[in-house]
Amino acid sequence: MHALKQPHSPKTTTSSAKMLERVLSSRRVSPHPDDAVSDSDASTILGDESKTKKQSLSLLAANYMSRLSHFCTCPTPCLILCLLFVFVYIASLLYHSRDFVCVSPFDPKTRVGFFGLDGLESDFGALGVPWCRSKHGKTVEWTSKDLIKGLEEFVPIYETRPIKNNMYGMGFDHSFGLWFIARWLKPDLMIESGAFKGHSTWVLRQAMPDTPIISLSPRHPEKYLKKGPAYVDRNCTYFAGKDFVDFGSVEWKNVMKKHGITDLSRVLIFFDDHQNELKRVKQALNAGFQHLVFEDNYDTGTGDHYSLRQICDQFYIRGGGHSCFRDSDETRIRPKRKKFWEKAVDIDELCGPNEAWWGVRGFMRDNFNHSNKPISYEEHFQNSRFIESILDVYWELPPVAGPSLTHQTRYDPARTTSPIVEDGRYGLFQRLGLGRLETSVFNGYTQMVYLQISEQES
Ligand SMILES: C[S@@+](CC[C@H](N)C(=O)[O-])C[C@H]1O[C@@H](n2cnc3c(N)ncnc32)[C@H](O)[C@@H]1O
Repeated sequence: MHALKQPHSPKTTTSSAKMLERVLSSRRVSPHPDDAVSDSDASTILGDESKTKKQSLSLLAANYMSRLSHFCTCPTPCLILCLLFVFVYIASLLYHSRDFVCVSPFDPKTRVGFFGLDGLESDFGALGVPWCRSKHGKTVEWTSKDLIKGLEEFVPIYETRPIKNNMYGMGFDHSFGLWFIARWLKPDLMIESGAFKGHSTWVLRQAMPDTPIISLSPRHPEKYLKKGPAYVDRNCTYFAGKDFVDFGSVEWKNVMKKHGITDLSRVLIFFDDHQNELKRVKQALNAGFQHLVFEDNYDTGTGDHYSLRQICDQFYIRGGGHSCFRDSDETRIRPKRKKFWEKAVDIDELCGPNEAWWGVRGFMRDNFNHSNKPISYEEHFQNSRFIESILDVYWELPPVAGPSLTHQTRYDPARTTSPIVEDGRYGLFQRLGLGRLETSVFNGYTQMVYLQISEQES
């Protein structure tokens, strides 16, 4: 497989963002550092003329001063020019600092005021992005270019979705991720656990028009049809309603035989059922499945079930592990992030009794948080080693576009990889049709992840 190319981590230029960069540079992570794709690569495909990023005032000033120095020989005019520049610069800073007074918490303008003119694009991954190590360092074969091409194709499809308001279900980012992965892998069978009104079933169907689906969900999606839009698929076997069986209790051998599946590596499983993901991985492994997608891959300290990301958030992984030490950079920075991103967590939310930060405050949640069991750090650590021992690929879907474009207000970019369409690339965002979608569809990103389990010896 070829390596996945990740978009650039943009350079920080404002002073506050620079500070953030300095203190956290050791935490910033690129799981696949050699795999950066240049903006020009993506623009080649779609002819993006807007790829020139906004330059910060300080950068512009530095450029301007260096140009001046070439022809400035007399010290007095230079001094006047310098003073003039300093005056303009301070005036501009004061103008932008007005946002500190009237803080409208999740307003992008406020974030610009806080982080600087190009601060919005500067802090992806600044608080670390944990990930799961795979056994041989393998990663996916698709590239950023493929994702951008996929977006161009998917936006018009998404606009025809039957369930326009999918509150409590997937938004745009994850719908795209699932569609893209299914289309790329071209499985012979797709299994979903957690259907709700059927939006994800519809997404799978758009990716693979003729491939059978098996859907497991306690409530049949047809029940929702009585109240409003829902999707029921004709080529889908439903283990739902009175026929519901939990994924872990299905006799998969028999079901596969019934569906004529002999090669389990040709099956894609999609989990959106808010169950402990360690439990789900073990069940999938026992059944012999290899390709898994988890919709809600919650960050440490958040969510209603133990996730892959939580499991692999470990000190020995770049970008992983936490400190509950009160006088630390992380403790100081997290509350600031909370002012701008609804899902950001501060140190009080992150750390439970005895400074337990792993899982959610030292707890392993399951089944929509109906089960909530404390785990020791040793157990948590062993879980990550187990996952690594069976893992060929761990790939988190990047957010589709930066927050200055989508106006999303929930996920904190500091805990996320760089988006597919970076902040500042308004032309590309519009050309892909993303600007036509309502803002609310971009608010559901929770690090959807694709796992490839290594083939087990029988
Ligand atoms: C977040 S919703 C799924 C959203 C859906 N995938 C979508 O994109 O619209 C979670 C669903 O999981 C279902 N669920 C609860 N327990 C489950 C279980 N053990 N197995 C499968 N589904 C379960 C819930 O009834 C609910 O329909």
